[in-house]
Amino acid sequence: MQLNSHNAWGNIDLYKQLYNDIKKNQEAFWMEQIKDITWIQKPTKILDNNTWFKDGIASVCYNCVDRHAQSNQDKPAIIWHGDEYCERTQTSYQDLKNRIIQIATALKQHDIKKGDVVGIYMPMLPDAIASMLACSRICAIHMVVFAGFSHEALSQRLKHSNAKIIITVTQQKRGGRTINLIEQVQKATKSLQIPILNLDELKTKVDDTNDQITYQTDQDELFHIYTSGSTGTPKKITHTAIPYLIYAATTFKYIFDIKPNDIYFCTSDIGWITGHSYITYAPLFHGLTTVIFSGSPTYPEADRYWDIIEKEKVTIFYTAPTAIRSLQMFDEKLIKQHDISSLRILGSVGEPLNESAWNWMFNKIGKQRCPIMNTWWQTETGGIMISPLLNLEQNKTRAGLPFFGIDITIEDQNGKPIEEPNNQGMLKIKSKWPGMCKNIQFKNKEYSTGDGSYYDEHGHIKITGRLDDVINISGHRLGTAEFESAINLTDNVIESAVIGIPHELKGQTAFAFVVAKQHIEEQQTVQQILNNTRKNIGPIAKPDYVLFVNELPKNRSGKINRKLLTKIYKNEPINSSDTHTLINPDIINHIQKKIKEAIFCPDICRIKANKNP
Ligand code: WTA
Repeated sequence: MQLNSHNAWGNIDLYKQLYNDIKKNQEAFWMEQIKDITWIQKPTKILDNNTWFKDGIASVCYNCVDRHAQSNQDKPAIIWHGDEYCERTQTSYQDLKNRIIQIATALKQHDIKKGDVVGIYMPMLPDAIASMLACSRICAIHMVVFAGFSHEALSQRLKHSNAKIIITVTQQKRGGRTINLIEQVQKATKSLQIPILNLDELKTKVDDTNDQITYQTDQDELFHIYTSGSTGTPKKITHTAIPYLIYAATTFKYIFDIKPNDIYFCTSDIGWITGHSYITYAPLFHGLTTVIFSGSPTYPEADRYWDIIEKEKVTIFYTAPTAIRSLQMFDEKLIKQHDISSLRILGSVGEPLNESAWNWMFNKIGKQRCPIMNTWWQTETGGIMISPLLNLEQNKTRAGLPFFGIDITIEDQNGKPIEEPNNQGMLKIKSKWPGMCKNIQFKNKEYSTGDGSYYDEHGHIKITGRLDDVINISGHRLGTAEFESAINLTDNVIESAVIGIPHELKGQTAFAFVVAKQHIEEQQTVQQILNNTRKNIGPIAKPDYVLFVNELPKNRSGKINRKLLTKIYKNEPINSSDTHTLINPDIINHIQKKIKEAIFCPDICRIKANKNP
């Protein structure tokens, strides 16, 4: 077995051989991978029941920062670009270490100890990354909340996770607008009585005696992150420190075939899992330079990504389909005026990469030279699970293969594996892997991902999207139930049901069926609904359509049948198996007749506003 061979992800024969060898002996593979870590105590056990690397002791922060600061102190760890073309900073590994120690010291002065939860509400600044690492340095657990979420959403997460402090900065500048963050944090913490650490005002003095690393063991938690599931409240996902780090770092090493001098640019936000695994932990673990951007890709012009790639000579560019689709609309000259030939590998994550976006990315960005790593994974999985190979020919199938050690199955509704090609079922995972979250749920020894998928004629996996009650808007996971609870707060609304429908730019958007009190002013109620989703979740959670109906289709136990609403929306034939459990089947006809009367709620056109500020 060539367990550390870099081109293992580039050659189909080598891949198959390794994949099968590793399937027989997963432990040998991970035993080899953990040599990349600097251990205080090397583990003797790889997997013991659900526990990975049981007796291992190491520090995430030391592995991501200190060791590189020792060997290569001036190397840039983070290059930051801000809202305007001229805004740029460079943070070396040594600078990063100093800042981390300063933040960690301030946290300790606030009596933050091992196992305490620290909220982080920050724009994409180097300090956001430093804050995460400062927590890991003292074995506190970070809980990052996307700074685009409302103060209500922030407050709910701080309360639920029992956070002891919140780290923030005064303001955020994005797309030519200034957003006051501290005010949001003050509102969010008003009833919680937790201290605010504003990094713009941090003057904590540091000397070596203040600094002490708290080492992590297998069961120690690195972070909590909230995502959406099928319930009305956000779902807390907990990741371990060392096993998670090893999984993120190993997948990164193979799938992006990293080289020491790579300049890596990922356009995600640290508020999402991608920002944790593949902006912060994996790139820094390997001592690379990670480029971050806190502005908007279309402000002042829609060439910000290409400008950054040219200026920094980016070699690996990891982005999301929604970003690609929104940039595809602009004049190609915005790309052509930049030399982006440094690019070697492209990546995509977050939602299905549709054919037109794939072609555009492949031809216009990669100039037919760069493979596109269309990586499939989830907050729960900690790191990439499925990706195409780094091989231009293979890549054109646009389907992926499971990472080493990942055993997948596609099953029909009765749990029967589907092996024939082009036949969709639910994607499930049968193996355990180091990146799995602590609170993962295996049922009948399988983890159900909630995603639909099928094998293509080469036996490679294609992902079609969620099969459960989760909508993926511009790569942001939002539960239908979360939408509904926000909509139901509206005075005149009795109840509601939300479904995901296709959207050209956002991938999916929300369509809300609303039962309201009689004789209401519909337009005004729609406005109140939009205010409530914005206030309780955030601006991304906006239904594009609202339809007032008399009643919702429910089964006898009162559960709303959203699949039926989706069928009505798509104008698909309804048969008796769809209706026999309904309390009131007549409602179908009523909704079918009304569906075209849905009220459209347009987006505020930011792009235009940006161009003429
Ligand atoms: C979707 C993001 C198709 C999928 C890392 C998954 C994808 C959900 C892809 C997880 C992809 C992610 N192709 N769909 N390459 N990547 N998804 O937890 O529905 O924010 O279940 O994690 O995004 O979203 P999450």
